[in-house]
Amino acid sequence: MSTKYCHRFQNINTVCARNHRLFNYRFIIYLSYIFCLSTTSTSISIMANDQFLIAQSSSSSPPLQSIMLARTLPLVQSYGDDNNSTTPICPLYIDSGGNGDDHNHNMTLNPCHCYGSIIMGIFIECTGANIRQINHTLNHLRSSHSQQSKSAVHSLSIYRLNTSSSTPSLPDHLFNSFTLINELHISSTNLTRIGTIQTYNGLEESLNSLSFVDSQISMIPKSTLSKLTRLKSLDLQSNHISNLDSYAFYGIPLRALNLQNNRIKNLQEFAFGGLENTLEELILNANLFEHFPLFALRRLRKLATLKLQNNQINQIPDDGFTRFTVLETLDLQSNHIRHLNSRSFMTMPKLKILYCSNNLLTVVSDSSIFQQLPLLETLDLSLNRLRVVNLDGLESIRTLDLSYNHLHDLRLQSLTGLRELFASNNNILQLVNETFMNTTNLEVLYLQHNAIHSINYNTFYHLQQLRILDLSFNQLRRLHQSLFKNTNLLQSLYLDNNLIDDMGIEPVMTDS
Ligand SMILES: *[C@@H]1O[C@H](CO)[C@@H](O)[C@H](O)[C@H]1NC(C)=O
Ligand SMILES: *[C@@H]1O[C@H](CO)[C@@H](O)[C@H](O)[C@H]1NC(C)=O
Ligand SMILES: *[C@@H]1O[C@H](CO)[C@@H](O)[C@H](O)[C@H]1NC(C)=O
Ligand SMILES: *[C@@H]1O[C@H](CO)[C@@H](O)[C@H](O)[C@H]1NC(C)=O
Ligand SMILES: *[C@@H]1O[C@H](CO)[C@@H](O)[C@H](O)[C@H]1NC(C)=O
Ligand SMILES: *[C@@H]1O[C@H](CO)[C@@H](O)[C@H](O)[C@H]1NC(C)=O
Ligand SMILES: *[C@@H]1O[C@H](CO)[C@@H](O)[C@H](O)[C@H]1NC(C)=O
Ligand SMILES: *[C@@H]1O[C@H](CO)[C@@H](O)[C@H](O)[C@H]1NC(C)=O
Repeated sequence: MSTKYCHRFQNINTVCARNHRLFNYRFIIYLSYIFCLSTTSTSISIMANDQFLIAQSSSSSPPLQSIMLARTLPLVQSYGDDNNSTTPICPLYIDSGGNGDDHNHNMTLNPCHCYGSIIMGIFIECTGANIRQINHTLNHLRSSHSQQSKSAVHSLSIYRLNTSSSTPSLPDHLFNSFTLINELHISSTNLTRIGTIQTYNGLEESLNSLSFVDSQISMIPKSTLSKLTRLKSLDLQSNHISNLDSYAFYGIPLRALNLQNNRIKNLQEFAFGGLENTLEELILNANLFEHFPLFALRRLRKLATLKLQNNQINQIPDDGFTRFTVLETLDLQSNHIRHLNSRSFMTMPKLKILYCSNNLLTVVSDSSIFQQLPLLETLDLSLNRLRVVNLDGLESIRTLDLSYNHLHDLRLQSLTGLRELFASNNNILQLVNETFMNTTNLEVLYLQHNAIHSINYNTFYHLQQLRILDLSFNQLRRLHQSLFKNTNLLQSLYLDNNLIDDMGIEPVMTDS
């Protein structure tokens, strides 16, 4: 039963349950937008100990976005008409509808499945269902359970809603019959509208997470969702949205908004009007932005995470006064940024994590660029065309990725907090005694695939914390015998694919 409805598990294989007690329980596996129950599936890898359960995907497609395994109570306490029931919560069969002839209704398998317990709440999953079947299931739940248990619907997931091509949206009042749903996940439909102001009637007091993804929604009319005064998370990933009305989300206390993989090129100044004091995470990856949407974002004073991966942004503007005072994570990976200047990061002085890989940077020379970012801990500049990079001012940096660039040498100045340096696949020619003089906390150093032909004997003298050093695929002929004199914690050293014929290390004599 379980595998049939778990479409997202198709690329997961092997069962590995280290803790056999696992199988005494029902597990709800929540994956991307649908969840399914599996205690017997042979297609899921679960590594379990008492606390943690991890499922791993063996393939990258479709991407595994999130997985949550929650332990529910044993079957004995499952939600049913008595306390020791295995009767399903939702009807197993459902009237196939039709002519209204009471005596001759054909019963078909109900595409909606319900799992859960009183304590965890009910999880409803409908795969390939039509509106009538969903309505029927909700009506059944309402009528067969008490007022108290009605409060327990944790989530309703609708996957591949079977609609006729002329149905643009969910019908009004569908949820009236069941007023307390915490999470609503709708995915892979042909719906073109998010609904009307009536569609979400009944969910005002309960809905805190709504995802309407992988469908054909092209706009978010203002105030459609404005009655959802508890909604914290809205996911509209993979739709056809090209434009947002001003104040599209007004009245909703959203903390997280995901608009990834839509068709947005520009945002109006007040597109996020109303979210100024709540929005913490905004995902705009894989849209059509050519400009950093500063005007639309500048009032979001709670914004802590901003993702703009895979757009066509070519620069980061500064309007002279905007300050994102809590922005800590900025993802600009895979854009078209060619230049950074002393104003690039003026607006975001509290950044801790900056991803700028796979852009078109060639020279980052102005020493004031990173001086704007005294709190930056992680900087990814990999996959650019950097010939020169001036890292002055990165006082807090711990992880630095410069790999896949065109660097000829490393100038790490006074990056005293640096723990990890990724500098493989450049054109670094040599390492001198000053290269790592100040990076005394370095633990991990990747330098493979460069053109290093010489290393001064004092180069690693100050790297007493070094654990991993990769020098493979270089042009080294010999290593000085005191090179590793001080690196007492070194655990992994890679020297393969060099030109070394003499390790220069005296054989150690031992008493026999
Ligand atoms: C089920 O258990 C609950 C709480 O333990 C109890 O109040 C209720 O009467 C039980 N129901 C039946 C049918 O045994
Ligand atoms: C629940 O039912 C099963 C079989 O129907 C029975 O073996 C078990 O003892 C019952 N458990 C309780 C707590 O009544
Ligand atoms: C039930 O199914 C039979 C055969 O599949 C069909 O002839 C009949 O019209 C169906 N009845 C209804 C009410 O759908
Ligand atoms: C959506 O429409 C396409 C093309 O008309 C069709 O192949 C597909 O089955 C439809 N999907 C759903 C969930 O109805
Ligand atoms: C939708 O339902 C119709 C009739 O029940 C069925 O023939 C069709 O295959 C379903 N389409 C999808 C995409 O599940
Ligand atoms: C859902 O079912 C109820 C009861 O049969 C009916 O009154 C209502 O119109 C249905 N709603 C939708 C949207 O089909
Ligand atoms: C090491 O740090 C000191 C103090 O910040 C600085 O003067 C010196 O130039 C640095 N050395 C190297 C090789 O960058
Ligand atoms: C580095 O090596 C050069 C000569 O190879 C030497 O003159 C210089 O003093 C050394 N500097 C340090 C900091 O060891």
